Amino acid sequence: METIFKPSKSEKRAMKLLDKNFTQILSVGISTGGSAEINLARQCPMARVIATTVDEKGLKFSNEKIAQFPEKVRIETKIEDVSKPMPYRDNTFDFVYARLVLHYLSKQQLDSALNEIFRVLKPNGLFFVVARNNKEWELTKPEFIISYDEKTNMTTYYEQWKKERIQTRQFLSEKQLKEILSNHGFEIRRVKNYREYLFTDYERTNKNKSKKPNYLTEIVVAKTQY
Ligand SMILES: C[S@@+](CC[C@H](N)C(=O)[O-])C[C@H]1O[C@@H](n2cnc3c(N)ncnc32)[C@H](O)[C@@H]1O
Repeated sequence: METIFKPSKSEKRAMKLLDKNFTQILSVGISTGGSAEINLARQCPMARVIATTVDEKGLKFSNEKIAQFPEKVRIETKIEDVSKPMPYRDNTFDFVYARLVLHYLSKQQLDSALNEIFRVLKPNGLFFVVARNNKEWELTKPEFIISYDEKTNMTTYYEQWKKERIQTRQFLSEKQLKEILSNHGFEIRRVKNYREYLFTDYERTNKNKSKKPNYLTEIVVAKTQY
């Protein structure tokens, strides 16, 4: 049985890390229509999947889609900001999935989020991160950059496919992201940079208009010190 949306390249890579014996999974930043979360639940038939977001409209859309699948009974969705203390006990999750979410956070918010993710991950639990990196196209076009804030490490810029739309993100190099994760106690297991088409709509039908894939860094880490 298919999910509603075609899985992304990075989502497919994450699914290969799953163990059918996992019982608790956290997805930070729910995916389009809850599609990745349905797949996480399907691959791990004993797992409860908690999926969080800060976007009310996205949550409503995802809930409507998830409700069409039998996995709905094992998927809990909610508004929850990963940069704030999370309501889970220490050592709760076997796997934390964070695709295309950490770059929304400032340096300070990212520090706080990583402390929390480390705390709630089980010993030897895995954390899958995919973030847009500092090779992104907008960063090579000075006319697209509006400002850079040294304190938060956030860049404010015009989006490549819609110049009237302004975004603020933290772009990190592979080296910076690895260093930050190591400094938070995680053991680096795998690092890969690749390009992937991101979409501008929930339904994942509109590729960004430049037709250029985005530059992503994927890092898989484990909690081996505790
Ligand atoms: C580009 S979407 C990526 C979603 C999904 N992980 C995927 O792979 O398709 C970013 C998601 O992160 C969520 N998000 C942004 N900031 C967040 C925060 N501080 N805490 C939790 N979720 C956040 C957004 O609301 C949205 O659901």
